[in-house]
Amino acid sequence: MTGDARLALHVYREGDDREVPLLLLHGFPLDHRMWDDVVDLLPGDGAVLAVDLPGFGASPAGSEVAPDEPASIDAAADAVARTVRAAGVDRAVVAGLSLGGYVAMALVERHPDLVAGLALLDTKSTADADAARENRLRIAEQVEAEQRVDAVLGMRTSLLGESNRARRQDLVSRLESWIRDQGHDGIAWIQRAMAVRPDRTEVLTAFDGPALVVVGEEDELSPVDAAEHMAAALGRATLVRVPRAGHMTTNEAPEAVASALAQLRREVPPIG
Ligand code: MLT
Repeated sequence: MTGDARLALHVYREGDDREVPLLLLHGFPLDHRMWDDVVDLLPGDGAVLAVDLPGFGASPAGSEVAPDEPASIDAAADAVARTVRAAGVDRAVVAGLSLGGYVAMALVERHPDLVAGLALLDTKSTADADAARENRLRIAEQVEAEQRVDAVLGMRTSLLGESNRARRQDLVSRLESWIRDQGHDGIAWIQRAMAVRPDRTEVLTAFDGPALVVVGEEDELSPVDAAEHMAAALGRATLVRVPRAGHMTTNEAPEAVASALAQLRREVPPIG
């Protein structure tokens, strides 16, 4: 059964009604605040919105968002669609980083009318290999058993590129505090959801709107070849490779991301 719970929707910026809003989807194990640096630099008059995915930030748990069904990225995408439509948004330029990218691709498949433009940052369209899937299920069990987020705290450094791990203590500290703010139940639910997500490369091939792929050249979690694979599937996508940045291009190189998103928005025709 699909639930009717809505996610927390954050209005970063109200916008001109004629411009298609920008909808930002965060990565794991974080919440919408990872977009703050990019939003500060975004030019233009369009609305800028972000959601917290199920179990993260101010959003209800996955078990409330999709009661009586197993965790899935599909359920997370349906909850995003339900939330923004309830706020009067029928079309958006959807930008997702990593986990947010998985949800964005599920939106393209399940709610194609909603996606006027697509930005995929530091993510991949392929499914997990067996070892990665098993690791996710192990982490889900560990955080539930320990009732703590410690099993994913190491991501405060592994999310960053090699150039920034030692040099950007400010980012390491921010990531740690954002990770500590999340609940262990949200982490377990979304790990199980990511573990069963399908390969969505063909969904990208079928997408015919403007698209952008961004990748940090030092991203070890969703490497450059994963970005090239998505850009090739999309066909008319712009591929931006960001030097000296890892998985968190939004925070390691916010200027590059803001400028690429601004260009994508210019490619999306205004409403009406
Ligand atoms: C993320 O940044 O959202 C994660 O790396 C996604 C994943 O675990 O695949």
